[in-house]
Amino acid sequence: MTDTTSAQQAESHYFTREPPPKDLKTNTTLAREFITRHADQGHRVVLVTSGGTTVPLETQTVRYIDNFSAGTRGATSAEYFLENGYAVIFLHRQFSLLPYSRHYSHNTRSFLDFMKEENGKVVVDEQHQDQMLTVLRQYTRVKRENRLLILSYVTITEYLWNLREVAQLMRPLGPNAIFYLAAAVSDFFVPQDRMVEHKIQSNEEFHQGTDNADGDSTKPPAARTEGKSLIIDLEPVPKFLKQLVDGWAPEAMIVSFKLETDPSLLVTKSKYALNKYSHHLVIGNLLATRKWEVVFVSMLDGEKWIRVPTSRRTKSLSGMPSLVGLADHHTKKDVEAEESIATRKGIPQGEPSIEIESLIIPEIESLHTKLIEQARTGAETS
Ligand code: PMT
Repeated sequence: MTDTTSAQQAESHYFTREPPPKDLKTNTTLAREFITRHADQGHRVVLVTSGGTTVPLETQTVRYIDNFSAGTRGATSAEYFLENGYAVIFLHRQFSLLPYSRHYSHNTRSFLDFMKEENGKVVVDEQHQDQMLTVLRQYTRVKRENRLLILSYVTITEYLWNLREVAQLMRPLGPNAIFYLAAAVSDFFVPQDRMVEHKIQSNEEFHQGTDNADGDSTKPPAARTEGKSLIIDLEPVPKFLKQLVDGWAPEAMIVSFKLETDPSLLVTKSKYALNKYSHHLVIGNLLATRKWEVVFVSMLDGEKWIRVPTSRRTKSLSGMPSLVGLADHHTKKDVEAEESIATRKGIPQGEPSIEIESLIIPEIESLHTKLIEQARTGAETS
């Protein structure tokens, strides 16, 4: 069996077994209208996926497995795509960060701290006026131009249904479309037919039987209690990148992310993904340095690091500066030298920090332009 046939079979098995989300029709209606309008005007459209995906353990879900992603990469990237003229479909995990409002929600402070009362009216505090005015202007412009469509999901299955439907709707955009897959997608899940209906009971006196929600007791539920322990026996989620590249969006530019925690694996696994799926670009990032450096791995440009200079990095509580450069065997020494100069000099005061997405998106735009030109030349010569 070829890779393509087995990916098709895995797709058909998955979507037959896992029912579509209730709001799928609403989402596809909105997406169709948005895509048609931008396709008619010859605009470039990017689907940005963002945030984590949950894996519910019960049909009436009380417990679920989740991951760390807050949606910073996706929400920030969406803003820079909009700034670069793209129309953006923002498919995000419900309640994760949104473009523009992220400046006031991803904070240890409440958004109310940005406000004050003046003459019986709520106004923005003086010190936040300039930044909020800039953000508000960007947001209202994008809304006025109808260039941002926000869709949401919660679970891995909702994510995949939405991704597949929107990808198919985007086909008429041809090479003008980009898929920018920044969501942190679960690799394992509980299939619907192996899920219990009700909350899993921790008290042994109230343990449920071995029936799944559909009443079938031939296979044990994937999440169940045995004695005092909770046993979770997850199944693999098929890799949908293959189907996206070969079937759902064959002409679009596809950008996937590769997340690792071990620096020694990042470049190798990013290259492996590029070879396996034969798409356009893998952006490798390490959990601990993802806000300061990423590696682009592509057929067009090979391996290329994008790094925010030490003095311009955004703050990150979970970030580990000592790991910057460690996954890049060519330049670890350069990075160390830069680090030590910066440490000796102290980080310059008053220099605005740079978000790494402000460096990533222009690079992608120029790769996209090359791919559109290649597609045009190919179409003219054939
Ligand atoms: O939200 P932030 O806190 O800012 O974090 C951003 C991020 C680290 C989540 C983001 O930059 C990132 O790396 N996202 C991709 C994470 C991920 O799913 O990596 P992976 O190595 O598990 O998967 C690699 C690729 O395979 C992904 O593009 C994913 O879309 C795809 N995949 C994954 C699972 C699956 N079943 N099918 C897939 O096609």
